[in-house]
Amino acid sequence: MAKTFDVVVIGGGPGGYIAAIRAAQLGLATACVDEWKTADGKPAPGGTCTNVGCIPSKALLQSSENYEHAGHAFSEHGIQVKGLSVDVAQMLKRKDRVVRQNNEGILYLFKKNKVAFYHGRGSFAGGSAGAWDIKVAGKPEETLTAKHVIVATGSSPRALPGAAFDNKLILDNDGALAIPEVPRRLGVIGAGVVGLEMGSVWRRLGAEVTILEALPAFLGAADEQVAREALKVFTQQGLAMHMGVKVGRVTAGKDVKVEYADSDGKAQALTVDKLIVSIGRVPNTDGLNAAAVGLKLDERGFVAVDGDCRTNLPNVWAVGDVVRGPMLAHKAEEEGVAAAERIAGKHGHVDFNTIPWVIYTSPEIAWVGKTEQQLKDEGVKYRAGQFPFMANGRARALGDTTGFVKFLADGKTDRILGVHIIGPMASELIAEAVVAMEFRASSEDIALICHAHPSLSEAMKEAALAVHKRTLNL
Ligand code: NAI
Repeated sequence: MAKTFDVVVIGGGPGGYIAAIRAAQLGLATACVDEWKTADGKPAPGGTCTNVGCIPSKALLQSSENYEHAGHAFSEHGIQVKGLSVDVAQMLKRKDRVVRQNNEGILYLFKKNKVAFYHGRGSFAGGSAGAWDIKVAGKPEETLTAKHVIVATGSSPRALPGAAFDNKLILDNDGALAIPEVPRRLGVIGAGVVGLEMGSVWRRLGAEVTILEALPAFLGAADEQVAREALKVFTQQGLAMHMGVKVGRVTAGKDVKVEYADSDGKAQALTVDKLIVSIGRVPNTDGLNAAAVGLKLDERGFVAVDGDCRTNLPNVWAVGDVVRGPMLAHKAEEEGVAAAERIAGKHGHVDFNTIPWVIYTSPEIAWVGKTEQQLKDEGVKYRAGQFPFMANGRARALGDTTGFVKFLADGKTDRILGVHIIGPMASELIAEAVVAMEFRASSEDIALICHAHPSLSEAMKEAALAVHKRTLNL
């Protein structure tokens, strides 16, 4: 007999597993179905983020940064390192261990919160409002019945036409995290988040990295001033960046040859030992059996949802990468919680204006709210205030003074409209800006708050003071 649940979540990534936990906390009988498995077939919930995204990439970013510091930054501190070398196998082993700890953490949380976990691919097997049948293609195969379904099936890397991923020479995000030895020449297609993070990892470890980007502007979604600074710093670090290119044929044999037209339209070719293709992701709807139950997809293949993550089918919800909006783990989590709350009759809420963006390069880049160019385009009167880490005592002591904090505040009300950071610990500093914006703070509010000294957070206060042309340390 089918097992019956109030909520069945399909997908155990950050959107799905968090939705399942929240639903269970709210007293709903909840199951989560996830098919990801370890090399030896064990369940590995956590989705792309935990298995081949956020978590392992941060592990390798940390390892490679430690190596770079030991090689280039320690001597300034009076620390001499002799015979420095990289053990890539150990680095990858550590990364895999960090991932496994996270997989196990999620399984533990399911147990603790009484979420029933099913290992296998989940798909619609029929049913109607209030009683959807979900097939789990696991061992054994089971059918669950659900009053509510939350689809959280995530996304997959988009391949270049004519250059399928083999994860030996042409790598997706998964392959980029598992290169067994440092390639001498590494090519990256797409100067987005994955390209910059993975390009940084392998450059720090010694690879010669060339990035080919289709758009003429670097990091188009970021504030232009931040993007300019980032391009300058990354180029100084040795990432060879070619913008405005048109990638043509890719031929893989002993190595990989990429033919492309440069920004002047001139034919060029790049030969590399490995090629990472990071040109965005596509939603995972294959295998959901969406058509059989009439689940509507939009014109780009995402599950179509309204502002509350409701699909066209009664009691069927969808969250995270498989629906519109930024493909960010924390956006998926927020939508997962909100969907669970709505199912429980509460008021879930996701504020798209205060979703932070972070790129974990060095320096880190983080922002929330509007960019300066967006405010100009929208004709909003604003005031900007900026403070460089060069003038921050803690940054000097750290030996990491690249970049700045920039506040954008409404010209009349002083309400904070956007905060942009490039510099040390930007990923942590941005949280203050998110809180401030959620509470509709003005830049003066931040300027009048006591910030610990010495700390990087003082750069936030000083940038807020700069909006009113009254910085103290510059
Ligand atoms: P992305 O959307 O960040 O960047 C893709 C880049 O590839 C863009 O700059 C685009 O113009 C370029 N591109 C597209 N087609 C191209 C072509 N044919 N030739 C050359 N360039 C081309 O996508 P990415 O880096 O693959 O990441 C996928 C998703 O994962 C993103 O939505 C990203 O936000 C998310 N992610 C987030 C992270 C974070 O929050 N730190 C880390 C890694 C991924």
